[in-house]
Amino acid sequence: MAKAKTHYVCTACGHEAVQWVGQCPSCKTWNTLEAFVVRSSGGSQRQMIGAAHQVQVRPLAEVEVVERGRTATGDDELDRVLGGGVVPGAVVLLGGEPGIGKSTLMLQSVLSMAQRSRRILYVAGEESPEQVRMRAERLGVVSPSLFVYAETDAQAVIRELESNKPSVVIVDSIQTMHLPEVESAPGSVAQIRECASAFTRFAKNHHVPVFFIGHITKEGSLAGPKVLEHMVDVVLQFEGERHHAYRMLRAAKNRFGTTAELGLYEMQGSGLKAVDQPSDALLGQRTDGDVLSGTAICAALEGVRPMLVEVQALVSTAVYGTPQRSGTGFDLRRLNMLLAVLEKRCGFKLGTKDVFLNLAGGLRIQDPAIDLAVVASILSSVLDVSLPWGTIFAGEVGLTGEIRPVPRMAQRIAEASRLGMKRMFCSTHARNLELPKDSAMEIIAIGQVSDLHGRLF
Ligand code: TYD
Ligand code: MG
Repeated sequence: MAKAKTHYVCTACGHEAVQWVGQCPSCKTWNTLEAFVVRSSGGSQRQMIGAAHQVQVRPLAEVEVVERGRTATGDDELDRVLGGGVVPGAVVLLGGEPGIGKSTLMLQSVLSMAQRSRRILYVAGEESPEQVRMRAERLGVVSPSLFVYAETDAQAVIRELESNKPSVVIVDSIQTMHLPEVESAPGSVAQIRECASAFTRFAKNHHVPVFFIGHITKEGSLAGPKVLEHMVDVVLQFEGERHHAYRMLRAAKNRFGTTAELGLYEMQGSGLKAVDQPSDALLGQRTDGDVLSGTAICAALEGVRPMLVEVQALVSTAVYGTPQRSGTGFDLRRLNMLLAVLEKRCGFKLGTKDVFLNLAGGLRIQDPAIDLAVVASILSSVLDVSLPWGTIFAGEVGLTGEIRPVPRMAQRIAEASRLGMKRMFCSTHARNLELPKDSAMEIIAIGQVSDLHGRLF
């Protein structure tokens, strides 16, 4: 006889409770518990999905490690971010805002993987097979070993996987999947969690890598992927500004490699193309004449990749009572902090000014070394004086206005030299300032934000 049991699951952290409560006992957020019903007929049906197998307690020393080689996905950037290809049985979540290019990235990788693989299954929950085919035509050569299955019933998909054992599985997207015995709408946390765990069991039992595509809204409010993050082995984030061409791929979590690698792509008419020399692409062919006030260049490091990024600031008198602050590609709270430091330590009255900040190319830079360039671009805009050509910055700004050192200076300097930069501002405490032999780079070490003003203008 079928029994129905109601559980409650927190949409923020995935905590499960048997009773509804106002505040999640685990993550302490309010009003996030959502009911879901699991229907079980006699024995638990949830256990029947994916083959159950015997597990025992064993001494760790006796666990043999079977070396299963990594498989190259056919996309060098993706391989690098994964830590050198995909591990058999790995469950990878590719998250990003709608329309950023997740399906494109996965499809173009499997197109090239299919040239070498036995059987790849692309589960299309959002698009029809015709749509997938049309897009595939644009992206590459469609190999006969690539299969598409337009299905949203996770149980049917698992059955197909069990009988045909593909070598790679893509689920686009995990939000569209549903299991009939979970009585919640597709996309709800309960559904996402149950479907993901069914796929994960399949991946682990058969050593088949599974990629989930997951949507995240701008506010990150859709909780599904957050819950998923705990369940999967690798979490990849695909980000960028939708109306700009550049996209960044980072690993937020990686059980099989570092999270320091970064993939950089440019969205073109025929799919995503890897960007090998980010600085060249971001700075363009700039010369002496076209340095404008309000711009400064930072020698940033994203993961292990150095790249020169242009920061643009516009400071103007606020028309309305409350000044506006906006930052594209830069954390707004950090911008407010830097403005407060400038006001307090350098005596610039910015409280009545609108401040807009923009990182060229629509990139999001997380490296704190960009602080100094942000401050320099704001100063340059306030004074309406452009910075001399060839000047770059790398330093973090602390609350007391001190310039703090940032790691891997040698790499930043090498990249800046390569692009013909002449002068680098950094912290007095910076180490590893060896210059490449043929470099004519002038290093200007400063201790305080207030010194920056003196040295620049
Ligand atoms: P898509 O992969 O569908 O995004 P997601 O799966 O993350 O929702 O692609 C998003 C955008 O990419 C789409 O609006 C059009 C653009 N695009 C190109 O510019 N060139 C291409 O070759 C393809 C396939 C897509
Ligand atoms: Mg898509």
